Amino acid sequence: MIKYLFLFLILVSTAVLADDGSRLWLKYDLLSDGQQREAYTKMTQFVASNSSHPTVKVSIQELEMGLKGLLGKTPLVVKTATKTGGIILTVVPNSPSTTASDGFDLFTEKGNIVISSQSEVGVLYGVFELLRHIQTGKTITKLSISSSPKIKLRMLNHWDNANGTVERGYAGSSMWKWNELPFRIDPRYIAYARANASLGINATSINNVNASSRFLTDEYLEKIKAVADVLRPYGIKVFISVNFRSPRTLGGLKTSDPLDPEVRKWWNEKTKEIHRYIPDFGGYLVKANSEGEPGPQDYGRTHADGANMLAEAMRPYSGIVIWRAFVYNADPKGDRFKEGYAQFKPLDGMFDPKVIVQVKNGPIDFMPREPFHPMFGAFPKTTLGMEFQITQEYLGQSTHLTYLAPMFKECLDSDTYAQGKGTTVAKIIDGSTENHTLSLMAGVANTGSDANWCGHPFNQSNWYAFGRLAWDYTLSPEQIAEEWTRMTLTRKPQSVQKITDMMLKSHPIYVSYTYPLGTSHMMGEGHHYGPEPWLTKAARPDWTSIYYHRADSIGLGFDRTGKVSNALQLYSPEVQQLWGSHDKCPLDYLLWFHHVPWSHKLSTGRSLWDELCHRYYDGVGQVGKLQTAWESVKSDIDTETFENVKGRLKIQEREALWWRDACVLYFGEFSKLLIPKPLVPPTRTLDEVKKLTEIYHLR
Ligand code: GCU
Repeated sequence: MIKYLFLFLILVSTAVLADDGSRLWLKYDLLSDGQQREAYTKMTQFVASNSSHPTVKVSIQELEMGLKGLLGKTPLVVKTATKTGGIILTVVPNSPSTTASDGFDLFTEKGNIVISSQSEVGVLYGVFELLRHIQTGKTITKLSISSSPKIKLRMLNHWDNANGTVERGYAGSSMWKWNELPFRIDPRYIAYARANASLGINATSINNVNASSRFLTDEYLEKIKAVADVLRPYGIKVFISVNFRSPRTLGGLKTSDPLDPEVRKWWNEKTKEIHRYIPDFGGYLVKANSEGEPGPQDYGRTHADGANMLAEAMRPYSGIVIWRAFVYNADPKGDRFKEGYAQFKPLDGMFDPKVIVQVKNGPIDFMPREPFHPMFGAFPKTTLGMEFQITQEYLGQSTHLTYLAPMFKECLDSDTYAQGKGTTVAKIIDGSTENHTLSLMAGVANTGSDANWCGHPFNQSNWYAFGRLAWDYTLSPEQIAEEWTRMTLTRKPQSVQKITDMMLKSHPIYVSYTYPLGTSHMMGEGHHYGPEPWLTKAARPDWTSIYYHRADSIGLGFDRTGKVSNALQLYSPEVQQLWGSHDKCPLDYLLWFHHVPWSHKLSTGRSLWDELCHRYYDGVGQVGKLQTAWESVKSDIDTETFENVKGRLKIQEREALWWRDACVLYFGEFSKLLIPKPLVPPTRTLDEVKKLTEIYHLR
């Protein structure tokens, strides 16, 4: 009998634990420590609010759901607090508080917890902060927090298409069910809104930047309106990516020339029409004259002409125009590194105040490690926004564990020296350096139809980290990882520590077995997965690998110091000094800027060739350590999640080896040097490794 009871208990506990990841970090599972639970319950017996605003309503709902889950007790909802031991939500417009309009104060006063803001959405953010405190086990007895977002527009960019596919999406198909909208509202839209609001994300562009004009038709505007209505109470504004040729394709005009009066009229009317559906429409996001997309240059006009035309259409409304700087011409003799800067530099000061120019973190394209984009700090008269990529196009997609907060931070903390030491990229994009009124941090979303939204369970942490950093870029990757782990995976201190450690090491590990020492762009053609350093021919020279690594009998790396491209000159003199000589340049960026001889001694004491090999081998070895660390937390992790990650780590190990062997064997053909001892040479030949890549192309 006892045996059966035992079995029953095991079954029950497994059933409770099985977790498909769909709740993301908003798990709200019952706190296991009874004493702690009781302490929290005493302070959260009721919620008092006399507002019927939809945002306050969802704030109360969230508190009810969160507290019921975490503490096992639903708080009473009252209009005014008549006793102590509750949570008071108050909106005080024009309050003397120092927080921004969507910031909040969270404090303990006369035996109650008060969440106060100048706006309803600030209250919602405060509610999530309080719940995060409880979820992560922090004390709530003496709260005294004032929090304001450092960046005004904190935005996800979806690269989702009307047909349900997602460009560079690795978590199933699109989460937007265009065929069902506007009639059926998938409950996941609300879950999505909650997740974003919990981080302070307040904007979303719902479709691919390689945009279809279809999103501007009445049929689609009605669908987008339905989405906007769901997201509105959560403080999230909707943006649409637009195709610059829409006046022709949709409006039947002969041209889409931004200086043509008919074209301008068309955009004015379209913008007015959108506002009839969505009165608080966020604005347009535009990819123009980039990778074959149409744009103003098709008519001999500039990016500023195009952006300003749309800004003019937006003039009567609160919305804005986000214009991407990701542009580059196919010039075999040029250097793609310099393209965005070169095309936009003459336009600094010419953009309408309603325009933000959105710049990728680095000058090429979301490589696993890039130096910061030289536009940051060099465009004082233009509002520059940041574009990070949360989806892991070049970072292991959904099979490699790669926590991106350290990479985001590396860029944000980089010093541009634009106004002397300390003018970091973060200070450029928050608008403080040049007193810009708008500011933006966008992240290309990694969400999809997968039950757990993001594919790899750990990929959720990148959505989380992006949002947390957009709110406050001074948070440390460690703090964010720890928080996310406690909310998502386990609260057991030892395991939290081990998982945080795994996460913090994961990006350097990934870089080590793919792109060590500042190499870049050597991935499989088209799908951008796995290694293909031998890629010599593609539709454009700057889509090959040899364009970037420049391996030859002498050495490796792209000399950008003057002799070939002089891209280094785009940076301030201080940065040029830091990166300009191959003896001083930090090793992480070395081959971005220098063509270094194979036998040149690096600061590590090893030659370039030896160091390169060591890094590839070390990266693979470290994946083994990630596996061991994951094994050691097994007892504290939900079984389904544990097995899921375990399986993906095995794939990661196999593919780290693929990268290592491909790169050391291929570069060895140039260096003509042996794999240094005690490293053991690959057991397969370069041709065998190339076959693996060919097979991948067959898929
Ligand atoms: C990368 C990516 C494309 C995307 C482009 C962009 O090149 O591979 O799929 O469209 O970036 O950011 O516009």
